[in-house]
Amino acid sequence: MATLNFLTGNAGKLAEAQTLFSPLGWDVQRFEIEGEIPEIIEPQTDNLTTVALAKIAQGVELLASQGRLQESLLVEDSGLFIDALPEFPGVYSAHVLQSIGCEGILRLLDDERSAHFLTAAVLWTGEAVEVFIGRCDGKIAMEIRGDDGFGYDPIFIPDSNDDDRTFAEMPQEEKSACSHRGRALRALYDFLNENGA
Ligand code: IMP
Repeated sequence: MATLNFLTGNAGKLAEAQTLFSPLGWDVQRFEIEGEIPEIIEPQTDNLTTVALAKIAQGVELLASQGRLQESLLVEDSGLFIDALPEFPGVYSAHVLQSIGCEGILRLLDDERSAHFLTAAVLWTGEAVEVFIGRCDGKIAMEIRGDDGFGYDPIFIPDSNDDDRTFAEMPQEEKSACSHRGRALRALYDFLNENGA
């Protein structure tokens, strides 16, 4: 089974990537150095892809410092974009979740509730960098619902859902089938297959 190193401190992201890739024969492992997730500095920018590219650049330097440059490495950056609040929380999604939480987002919204998630997944193949973008359109729920998932999952209802459940009310596989991350990672998987990785 091929191994894909995933540079992330987020257990939810890791679980989603493992759910998606293990049936396809890929073993997704958290990237660690001496048992620790390495510290990565995120640049101040309003573009998710720029953030993810900065992370992969640091990750590749770390691989090189370990003599592991030929291994693959995945980073990804995601954000929630709410139409009624342009560019918000966007690249500040993690900070906003920590400060006002899902409850705070609900307090800011009125009738206009459309939103989307975006993911920029960036892969170091061992030789080159490839970028994959995934998007999931949906809306913000009227209240917090569901116990599964992480982050904004309890307030996000994807459009592909015909019964108004939030991501946090869906099994992992169902979320992955339509999620921004699932779409970006499936594109990445297709790339790996096509390129004989
Ligand atoms: P980052 O990609 O780790 O910077 O994610 C930014 C923020 O968005 C974090 O607070 C995550 O919890 C949240 N987030 C990222 N992906 C998802 C998702 O699939 N569902 C819900 N929240 C997410």
